[in-house]
Amino acid sequence: MTAIRHVTGTAFIVAEFRAEENQATTPLYRDPIVGLFLNDATRQAAAEVQAINLPVKEAVKLRTRYLDDVLEARIAQGCRQVVILGAGLDTRAIRKRAHGVAYFELDDHGTLDFKKTCFDEQGLDADLTLIPADYVRDDWVELLNAHRFDFDGSTHFIWEGNTMYLTRESMREVLIKIREHARRFTLSFDYLSESIINKTTGDPTLGALVDHFAHLNAPWITGIDDVQALADELDLEVIDHVSTAELHRKHWPERTIASSFFRFYSLCTVGPRARSAPGP
Ligand SMILES: C[S@@+](CC[C@H](N)C(=O)[O-])C[C@H]1O[C@@H](n2cnc3c(N)ncnc32)[C@H](O)[C@@H]1O
Repeated sequence: MTAIRHVTGTAFIVAEFRAEENQATTPLYRDPIVGLFLNDATRQAAAEVQAINLPVKEAVKLRTRYLDDVLEARIAQGCRQVVILGAGLDTRAIRKRAHGVAYFELDDHGTLDFKKTCFDEQGLDADLTLIPADYVRDDWVELLNAHRFDFDGSTHFIWEGNTMYLTRESMREVLIKIREHARRFTLSFDYLSESIINKTTGDPTLGALVDHFAHLNAPWITGIDDVQALADELDLEVIDHVSTAELHRKHWPERTIASSFFRFYSLCTVGPRARSAPGP
């Protein structure tokens, strides 16, 4: 199995965190599939992150719910293709399957192979195309093309738990490529603030998290302070953006927000900028 190190390994830690919500009395979501990917090694890796005593697990649960909600809304609006970049152990192709909706997932070969084996062993079937690729280095537009992706079709992209691991340049290139090639799309992604990366939040406890991910060889290197400015620069429209602190207040109003981390970790949904009507 993939080692629980490097960016690839972080998918297994996320899967552990996501799975735990199944035990909640009133869960934010249900993921009956994710348990297939878990074992002693994933439990151990997740426990090591938990030992830092910061609510990463809760943040993963909140982001899962946000991305589920946007996806459901997009499918209800008629979106027929879902592309998941750096999909890791995402199970939405099964959990959120809908008639006529095709899922495409990109991640490294080992992760997707492992996932396929787990699904096959359980006889789980979905309209899911697994595309092994490094979406920074490989031409993923060409790869999608080769897998009968319809660039004219209405598409929702999910880019979860990825932006912080990329260089700023790679992050921008992904956004530009989506804008240039997908004509009718929305894209949801999560992002950390730059102050987390630079350890300038004023909350010294947060530095331990940055150090831990660096220790896992999966350093957090890029944050976004002003998502609206980034969208303006790249000719994108921000449809929605929300901090995990706001999601925390919305979904868990009875719980105290235990860490400033939630203020520095956000999600957004963008789309192509609406063009003004051409002049005479
Ligand atoms: C933190 S995990 C998140 C997995 C999943 N999106 C989720 O939230 O459950 C990051 C995932 O992104 C993948 N990833 C990061 N950079 C990638 C790249 N350039 N090409 C393909 N996959 C990438 C990793 O292999 C890993 O599975």
